[in-house]
Amino acid sequence: MADIRLLKLHCMNGDIRLPGDKSVSHRAAMLASIADGTSIIKNFSSAIDCQSTLDCMRQLGADIRRSGQDIIVHGKGLRTLSEPGDILNCGNSGTTMRLLCGLLAGQDFSAVLTGDASLRRRPMDRIIKPLVNNGADISGEKDNRYAPLTIIGKVLLNIHYELPVASSQVKSAVLLAGLWAGGDVSVVEPIVTRDHTERMLVYCGVDVSRDENVINLGGNRQPVAREFVVPGDISSAAFLIALGLLVPGSQLCLKDVGINPTRTGLLTVLEKMGADIRIANERLVSNEPIGDLIVRNATFKAVDIGGALIPKLIDELPLIAVIATQAQGRTVVHDAHELRVKESDRIAAIVAELKKMGASIEETSDGFIVDGPTPLKGAECSRYDDHRIAMALSVAGWIADGETVIKDADCVGISFPEFYSLVKGLQ
Ligand code: S3P
Repeated sequence: MADIRLLKLHCMNGDIRLPGDKSVSHRAAMLASIADGTSIIKNFSSAIDCQSTLDCMRQLGADIRRSGQDIIVHGKGLRTLSEPGDILNCGNSGTTMRLLCGLLAGQDFSAVLTGDASLRRRPMDRIIKPLVNNGADISGEKDNRYAPLTIIGKVLLNIHYELPVASSQVKSAVLLAGLWAGGDVSVVEPIVTRDHTERMLVYCGVDVSRDENVINLGGNRQPVAREFVVPGDISSAAFLIALGLLVPGSQLCLKDVGINPTRTGLLTVLEKMGADIRIANERLVSNEPIGDLIVRNATFKAVDIGGALIPKLIDELPLIAVIATQAQGRTVVHDAHELRVKESDRIAAIVAELKKMGASIEETSDGFIVDGPTPLKGAECSRYDDHRIAMALSVAGWIADGETVIKDADCVGISFPEFYSLVKGLQ
């Protein structure tokens, strides 16, 4: 695998379009496969994780083809899927594994799901419990906590679940299982998490309603085929936003980025910090809000980040640690325990690596504390088998004095294969 060597950047300028959102792409591939009719998915994510979803769906009998930049899916309705001939490999993708558990719980066949070493270390009891308590038959390793998972399809009736952790993956799995359930389906979400599944189900004609923090499925549960235009991925855009803010003299325009309010916690935080970001050309595409983000280099101050904001920026927190090293004052991130069970323990990873680069950062049980501004210095960094750690550390490397080496940096392909080439094009 290739190591990447980075030196300080001096100016970033230009307009770009980001590849499609990973969360939305997973859901579009799954819903199009079980829709009635032919769907077209435009700007489908180039992430390896989304390729894992396409591969699994094909093994489950979905008719998915590429036509130039588009994905064409011929769905035959809720009975499209069939028993796979082999184990389904979800690779590094937690979203693929957890949403597939929902999709497969109510089928009339069995399947086994596995993943890479990182995914096999991630908690799966959070998905097994709600489904099994509502009639599904799913088992896993080590007391039903880890993959590989065996799913024996069962007839599902009523499904009711109150989420103990704020997780869109769990909410989505329960809602997807509900499409095959014969009775009432509701999910209670104490803290709002990303709502792409609900939006997409509505876009495909399924009865979904929200009453405060309760999401209900109504009578019509057969998705219809649609054209899906996937918004640019705000979690990938985040790294470019950070470079636009941190590299002196920069101005970037990121076009057609998803600005779903359940995903824009980073923008909320940056606004509080006093950063210069403008949103233009706001509109709704395939029931998802999108817009252009105009980012300029500026100075900014520290903030406190916790509570209901956390799910809206969970994937951006390692990057926020990097940004906070350049903010005036003390940034405190709390209520972010979930960061410890992502592709790596992201609290431990980002704190250890930023310390190597000279940052003043300390780990807490549910987050970190950063004092800034501190000049960073180049270092040799590990990426902990985690794409977002590799990209956050790359941003740190591009603002540090001296050379930074990111080991095995091609892991960025898990979510954003174009990362290094896009940044090069903006220099
Ligand atoms: C995702 C939800 C989040 C996020 C992950 C993608 C999704 O995880 O961290 O990268 O597509 O639903 P949780 O829902 O487990 O918090």
